[in-house]
Amino acid sequence: MIAIAKETIEQQANRLLEKSIIYYNNQPVGAVAASDSEREALNYDQCFIRDFIPAALVFLIQGKTDIVYNFLIETVGLQKQKRRVDCYEPATGLMPASFKVESQANGQYLHADFGDKAIGRVTPIDSCLWWIILLRAYVKATKDETLAHQSSFQEAISFILEICLGPQFEMTPTLLVPDGACMIDRPLGLSGHPLEIQALFYFALRAARELLTKDAAGQVLVKEINNRLGSLLFHLRGYYWLDLKQLNEIHRYESEQFGESVVNKFNIYPDSIPYWLTEWMPDRGGYLAGNLGPGKMDFRFFSLGNLVAIMGSLTTEQQSQDILTLIEQRWSDLVSKMPMKICYPAIEGLTWRIITGCDPKNTPWSYHNGGSWPVMLWMMMAACQKMGREDLADRAMAIAEIRLMSDDWPEYYDGKNGRLIGKSSRKFQTWTVAGWLLAKLLRENPDCLNYVCLEEDTEAIACMI
Ligand code: GLC
Repeated sequence: MIAIAKETIEQQANRLLEKSIIYYNNQPVGAVAASDSEREALNYDQCFIRDFIPAALVFLIQGKTDIVYNFLIETVGLQKQKRRVDCYEPATGLMPASFKVESQANGQYLHADFGDKAIGRVTPIDSCLWWIILLRAYVKATKDETLAHQSSFQEAISFILEICLGPQFEMTPTLLVPDGACMIDRPLGLSGHPLEIQALFYFALRAARELLTKDAAGQVLVKEINNRLGSLLFHLRGYYWLDLKQLNEIHRYESEQFGESVVNKFNIYPDSIPYWLTEWMPDRGGYLAGNLGPGKMDFRFFSLGNLVAIMGSLTTEQQSQDILTLIEQRWSDLVSKMPMKICYPAIEGLTWRIITGCDPKNTPWSYHNGGSWPVMLWMMMAACQKMGREDLADRAMAIAEIRLMSDDWPEYYDGKNGRLIGKSSRKFQTWTVAGWLLAKLLRENPDCLNYVCLEEDTEAIACMI
């Protein structure tokens, strides 16, 4: 009898990733979000820009650069480049949330969703930021700047910069966005200045600065970028930072202060510090708050924003170490049985009713509201490797590996400790597969870490006010 060798987790991940690829005119251009035949596809049969990032990075590390090249070319073609004629159209510069290959009599075409078809009509603001970050990774991997220097790509970057750096109704350097404008694409109290968008914005600005050609037009944009980077860094490192010392400061804040040099600039009332945090904040460690606006700070811990902040050197060396220390200290809350919580803690009761609009998908400790998302593994690996804390990422990988394959690579897990497969979770979710594979590949190829990490920015520090 011939014994059939059991597929290893790595073989399976590679096979599933290969199977998820979408072809357009016989060329690979992206990947479906999930291939779960047991659930209604909705839009999971589309290629989401944010979902494709870990898959694209896997392909780059494996030397399969064609698919990433095609993806970048096709998405430039989909970007909104003309002034809108009616206000239901996306604004110039936006990249779609997702796209799909459609067929008609005279061939195939790509159909994009800018949120105009999405549940809740959410704007995918993170797409254009991730797109620039991926373009930089492509240049790093191929060591070829020709694609990025093409006029259509330079134009695409400048459209994105125009929408991000243009005038806004704001007195802060952070980006003001509606709720659900990123990975958390349902109402969860993320309107205003959510950390995820700010961390991606910071990374994308720095990536754009590297990618712009140094001609006259490029120089003007670089100057604008530098102006913004300095104040963005100052604002986020200073005002978003939370640790025990800062919590003590806020706890004893005076309020109603008027004038330029006041301490409590955003008029945060000490009473707004949630009770859980006074016990949860460890003696050592800290993190960036979820959101900050007039009279309001979101004290929840959001993983993606904090990890991308480390990867992009938005946080100082010390702050980056502190974030990882906090993850270590609060391991049973943030990692537990599946790395890792998208945010902590969940919102419950009346707060849940008001903030989510009674969203049955986002009940406490499910989905975006305190669910556990294995895609987070690659960002955790990158952040840990950057800070020399591979021990933490290895622990997380060991936990994930016990279950991901036997659970059929779920989109997310439920419960306080992430033991249950998510209620409405898709199986064979591409970014779960790619996220695990990417974490493994980064661990084995530390020279590829610079595709997704940036060192401290000396230029912006010089501009800091
Ligand atoms: C869900 C997630 C979103 C993801 C999409 C496709 O809507 O919230 O972040 O892009 O599914 O996987």
